[in-house]
Amino acid sequence: MDNINQTLSHSPISVLSKFGITVKGHLKDLLAFINLTKLRRKHFQAAADAFIAKDRMNELSAKLHPSIQYLVIDQVYQEAENAKTYKLIPAPDAKIEKPAYFRAGQYICITAEVAKGVVVNRPYSISSAPVDAQNGYYEITIKRNEDGFVAPYIWEHWQPGMHMQSSGPEGHFYYEALRDRHCIIALAGGSGITPFRSFAREIVHGNLDIELTIFYGNQHDKDILFLNELNELAQNSKGRIKVIHVLQTPSQYKTQGQTYFEEGLLTKDLIKKHVDVKNSTIFICGPQAMYNFLATELAPLELSKKQIRWELFGAAKDIMQHKDFPKEQAGKSYTLNCKIANSNIDIPASSTESILVAIERAKLQPVSKCRSGECGFCRSKLLSGQVFIPEENDKRRAMDKKAGYFYPCVSYPIENLSIE
Ligand code: FES
Repeated sequence: MDNINQTLSHSPISVLSKFGITVKGHLKDLLAFINLTKLRRKHFQAAADAFIAKDRMNELSAKLHPSIQYLVIDQVYQEAENAKTYKLIPAPDAKIEKPAYFRAGQYICITAEVAKGVVVNRPYSISSAPVDAQNGYYEITIKRNEDGFVAPYIWEHWQPGMHMQSSGPEGHFYYEALRDRHCIIALAGGSGITPFRSFAREIVHGNLDIELTIFYGNQHDKDILFLNELNELAQNSKGRIKVIHVLQTPSQYKTQGQTYFEEGLLTKDLIKKHVDVKNSTIFICGPQAMYNFLATELAPLELSKKQIRWELFGAAKDIMQHKDFPKEQAGKSYTLNCKIANSNIDIPASSTESILVAIERAKLQPVSKCRSGECGFCRSKLLSGQVFIPEENDKRRAMDKKAGYFYPCVSYPIENLSIE
């Protein structure tokens, strides 16, 4: 404290010098600033005309944030009857030793050609830890019936040795010390445990300084993923990880050490029984039904908005069930006029399927990443017609709304449309 007081009592110049910043004198700095434009112009004129093929900053940025990663399926593990983990390593011809670094909780968007010419993208949380990426691999864990036709395709086709493509790490579902509390409550359902496995591994490796309490909801014992691994991570965490399995049917397991077994649903009372909710940040990842349940369940706790972090859950599984969806639209079909570069293509689109899916079905290979209205990667312009967008998925900026931009991944046609 004395040091800080001494520092504050000094002049701004000496304060800056303590941090290694040299101030040559106020007037001199001012003149330097005035001359800056002249100086830069001089540098530009002196620069070579030749294209700079190698730029260290560009190289670093491409390494940290690649738009595409070329990977190979190294191994496949059967985690449970209906879940497999795929270990992915860089493809030899990609000439990199490690996949891009990420933060525990982020996802990669994989690209798969599920039928001839039908190329789709799906986001999957990375279930391994960032430290594993530094050791050369990612893992993703996929349930067979998770997301329509992509998960079954992967289950059937992905074998060791096969090449595939993914995006770089994406998403904002990670711990941020400046925003989140030190105590993290993870509420997971089904394969929603994957980002929290990454959190837990990172804690045990000493790279993530948080206290983590995982509530993991499943129907039966046999549905639990990473049962033994989570138990071991809790045991090796020096008390920083606690796992509470919440099962809808009686469990054959008994509470032991830092691993608990509870019967019932993931209610606020159950959460409060194990952890101080008020002084925690809650991270939630699971199926949509769990999100709906928890939204009602957590509301009476009156937590601030930033104390609850929801992982993306994709577009609605059944938009007909959405409370605001115009029910008279059920079963209607429309024509989607797509302007792509210089061509105009008409494709059919169902009112109950997202516009992104309609474009994928038409083999137009649209770009996408999160498929949840968050990343903005699929941003398109609505030239005419109307779409339905669920309020909770509408994350467009005000200016985008005004200018007629929309995200096809979370928009449904309710008229014939023209889009660009
Ligand atoms: S894919 Fe992210 S907003 Fe559509």
